[in-house]
Amino acid sequence: MASRVIPVDPFDLVIFGGTGDLARRKILPALFRRFCAGQIPEGARVIGAARSDMDDDQYRVFVAETIREFNSSFHLEEDDLQGFLLSLSYVKTDALGDEGWAELAAKMHPGRVRGFYFSVGPSLFGPLAERLHSYGMADQDTRIVVEKPFGRDLETARALNRSLADHFTEDQIYRIDHYLGKETVQNLMAIRFGNMLFEPLWNSQYVDHIQITVAETVGVQGRGEYYDRSGAMRDMVQNHLMQLLCLIAMEPPSKFEPDSVRDEKLKVIRALDPVEPEDIVRGQYLADGDRAGYLADVGDPDSTTESFIALKLHLSNWRWAATPFYLRTGKRMRARTSEIAVVFKETPHSIFDDEAGRHRNILTIRLQPNEGIDLDVTIKEPGPGGMRLVDVPLDMTFTEALGPEAENVSDAYERLIMDVIRGNQTLFMRGDEVEAAWAWTDPVIADWEKRGAKPVPYESGSSGPEEALMLMHHDGRRWREVRS
Ligand code: BG6
Repeated sequence: MASRVIPVDPFDLVIFGGTGDLARRKILPALFRRFCAGQIPEGARVIGAARSDMDDDQYRVFVAETIREFNSSFHLEEDDLQGFLLSLSYVKTDALGDEGWAELAAKMHPGRVRGFYFSVGPSLFGPLAERLHSYGMADQDTRIVVEKPFGRDLETARALNRSLADHFTEDQIYRIDHYLGKETVQNLMAIRFGNMLFEPLWNSQYVDHIQITVAETVGVQGRGEYYDRSGAMRDMVQNHLMQLLCLIAMEPPSKFEPDSVRDEKLKVIRALDPVEPEDIVRGQYLADGDRAGYLADVGDPDSTTESFIALKLHLSNWRWAATPFYLRTGKRMRARTSEIAVVFKETPHSIFDDEAGRHRNILTIRLQPNEGIDLDVTIKEPGPGGMRLVDVPLDMTFTEALGPEAENVSDAYERLIMDVIRGNQTLFMRGDEVEAAWAWTDPVIADWEKRGAKPVPYESGSSGPEEALMLMHHDGRRWREVRS
């Protein structure tokens, strides 16, 4: 299978926060990988902008170290690295003052696509947009990229949207949710809308329930201060899990293009019912051997923020009215695994005797690790002894089906940054989508805050609190095992 790499047009990309954690871990390694793949043409420029005192050469040394540290996934050729470094420069910039702005403006090539990556806290989004405008860098060729958290509630998200809209039109604003850039997340759309097989069954009549699990083994990892103000609901559910839910539940868009897709996703969010308190389980991980528990990790013995959440959701629309969606995500769980399982109903009548048992089909979309799809089908257990049924997976692990190239799937950031340059917003969140997600999230959080609800403890390395298991048991269902 030959992969197709189509180089993008030459561009100028400024990374505000160019020395920060996200730039180091994700943005710069992603650009480097695209450079190695031949997608970034000669003449493209990447400009780091931050408060540190550095010149171009010092920035290149900094980036070289960063790439060596965070590029573990493929063999690094020194020539490639040197070639990439030539495209880099640095401008010391004060987001809240005037230092650096005239110099940045002078570096822009007229008529080129220019991207400004706001890899900084949301409090700087407005000031950066403002200065881009006043220094003449906010014209029709400009695109800005903003990261989550996009606000912490509806009010702050609206304020952010307004501050960006003062200087940029919606089609210039690229709000990143890196889950949308994951290979299998896009595959979800291919599976649903590229096959005749699934769509007729994709509704309450045939689907018993849908489970979405995003489990992590890491704890809060030195981000305790941010995390304790957010919790799993704001950090994961309002954005990543909500996006997965949208893609799994939405109606077929008329075209695979930005607004058709985003219109359909928006309808899903707006069809979500408020969640009942008894349909929510929140947890905090406990200490385990040498590893501290959540409360010690965030340095607040009284914290009531959740590091795990499980929810049962309902969508009020024709397609899904009778199908519950169970979502869960947490830190310090048994395995790092993200998957969506579509659990079909049993056949309406079994022609086999009781010993054959009752069975159901499950379509599992594995986002990470081992990207792929499983379809559990029921067959006869081989051999004599009558008709006994057994469920076997039709397993399509992409690397097995598509060969070694599928192993080298690009990281979400590689795809998303190239989409910014190409001007394709399909995998980015529109302002109204983000606001709708907060409008649904806010009352849920407000309710548990009003009741002073406390998360329940769970063992590190487990699949979350017992209560989360009970959430499904009460409905006669069970979670799939958390395993990689
Ligand atoms: C981030 C969250 O958006 O996503 C983190 O802030 C989380 O808390 C991360 O760990 C998970 O991303 P991935 O790609 O590792 O599943």
